[in-house]
Amino acid sequence: MCGIVGAVASRNVTAILVEGLMRLEYRGYDSAGLAVIDTENNLQIRKAVGKVKGLVDNLDTNPASGSVGIAHTRWATHGKPTEKNAHPHQSNDIAVVHNGIIENHAELRQALKNQGYVFVSETDTEVIAHQIHALVNNGLSLLEATQQAVALFEGAYAIAVVNTKFPDELIACRSGSPLVLGLGIEENFVASDQMALRQVTDRFVFLEEGDFVHLERKKFSIFNGDKELVERKVVQLTDKAEAASKGEYRHYMLKEIFEQPEVLKRTLQGRISKHHVLEEAFGTEAKAIFDRVKGVQIVACGTSYHAGLVAKYWMESIANIPCQVEVASEYRYRKVFVPKDTLFVTISQSGETADTLAALKEAKKSDYLASLVICNAPSSSLVRESDLVFMTHAGPEIGVASTKAFTTQLVALQLLTIALGRRQGLSESVESDMVSALASLPEAVSKALLLDDVIKKTSEAFADKHHALFLGRGVEYPVAMEGALKLKEISYIHAESYPAGELKHGPLALVDSDMPIVAVAPNNELMEKLKSNLEEVQARGGKLFVFSDQADAFPNSDDVTVIDVHSVPETIAPMVYTIPLQLLSYHVAIVKGTDVDQPRNLAKSVTVE
Ligand code: F6R
Repeated sequence: MCGIVGAVASRNVTAILVEGLMRLEYRGYDSAGLAVIDTENNLQIRKAVGKVKGLVDNLDTNPASGSVGIAHTRWATHGKPTEKNAHPHQSNDIAVVHNGIIENHAELRQALKNQGYVFVSETDTEVIAHQIHALVNNGLSLLEATQQAVALFEGAYAIAVVNTKFPDELIACRSGSPLVLGLGIEENFVASDQMALRQVTDRFVFLEEGDFVHLERKKFSIFNGDKELVERKVVQLTDKAEAASKGEYRHYMLKEIFEQPEVLKRTLQGRISKHHVLEEAFGTEAKAIFDRVKGVQIVACGTSYHAGLVAKYWMESIANIPCQVEVASEYRYRKVFVPKDTLFVTISQSGETADTLAALKEAKKSDYLASLVICNAPSSSLVRESDLVFMTHAGPEIGVASTKAFTTQLVALQLLTIALGRRQGLSESVESDMVSALASLPEAVSKALLLDDVIKKTSEAFADKHHALFLGRGVEYPVAMEGALKLKEISYIHAESYPAGELKHGPLALVDSDMPIVAVAPNNELMEKLKSNLEEVQARGGKLFVFSDQADAFPNSDDVTVIDVHSVPETIAPMVYTIPLQLLSYHVAIVKGTDVDQPRNLAKSVTVE
């Protein structure tokens, strides 16, 4: 998704801006650009379609330097990824970068055209540049002009502006899209993600909704709305800014898959004793809230939504608590019925997903008991806006396809299941069994990773396929959904998941010898049922790939490949069976030669609706 970096310094900031953009590359984008105010007080704008490397090449040929500047990676929303549509957008002596969407841009565009402004791009952002210019021309300062312009905008956005009329200033603001201030020594920065600035500072101010910042070299002021000067806390980040490096791995995704035993240990650390879940993990206020919980509403998107679906099985069968799960983009626009004493739970790797954030805001207007977020990004918007917070501690996830975030979310959700279940009569012995199964999870995941070579070979069978079906039953059905999502997003193979019992109600018509069918089949009470469903597939010539700890239960024929997963306690099977499915999608993508870490059209952090 779009990324913003800005700087006001005494030194040339071009390299800082470019480095910042590179650090945001993992978020997904399709063009890049920067604007600096040079020593002769001219705006120097450089852009490139494609990777930041293209911008670097452009700068090699046409250098640009200046001590005040803004930069951007664009993920196209209005207009194709072209140089004209890439940011920064210019209106005479003003340059603007923008994340998010200005929903009423069409009417503003028309009004500005009527004033004589000529538009060169198809973007909503160009409206911002001209609007601010029109107001500066009326005699306003850059800050006032930005404040008044923003009052006209509907939508969600983060904006950074520079103007050669005010060559030592940078104005930035946020409404619905994240923005953070980085504080240096006699230099200050702004970015849509602190990751972009970790090479220059570890001191940050996380701007709040409606904040404007007036940034100069030696000072900054924050206003909420157009009048009130506000103080915001300076946060010193103490994590080691885990360098975004692939280490020995070919791709971030592979590194992140293989990191899972370690990060799962971190998720569990300090959260379980030998026999119990320690509720402090959910925050100091958790106990009083959990005592009252009678139901759970989970809201999330994509992979995080799949984690929620797994949790529904656990909540209802283990904790004996009703649980609803919904994708945030639907939930936020629906009139919902909130049963008494319901806990509202969001799940998000990034903590910045626009739909999930909007759903939380809607939920706060309803009668929920409290909100809890399960998140991997400290200081993110969801973390700041939720009553209770559970950090998954998975470390930065750079590959666009979510892997370690998912398994750590599942652990968090299982801890929540136990904590709530305890109040509904979950026995000490079941809790103790579940906790020791969780404690064995890192080891079980390490073992599952040993399947890498087998899966690599298996992946070749998918190389020329255009479609695949993923099947599971019960709690393994959402695991199959996640397997299908992984395959489609990085290999571009159309993959659908079904609860296996649904096959004969339609999807069986798709099955022929060209259709690979992946089944998630650990030994549980539904395995025999699943086996019958798979026999129906086999009878129609489908090619089966069965992940199971009961290899002998499935016929070994040319049409059936059984991948032998070691036996694990049923409660951790969803996490363990996720691993071979992640590896499968990774290796299929490698065989197909796609961009594993930055698949086409996708963004890591979806900060627009
Ligand atoms: C898929 C993937 C996405 C995200 C979704 C929600 O691999 O990464 O489906 O899970 O965009 O993102 P978060 O969890 O950051 O809210």
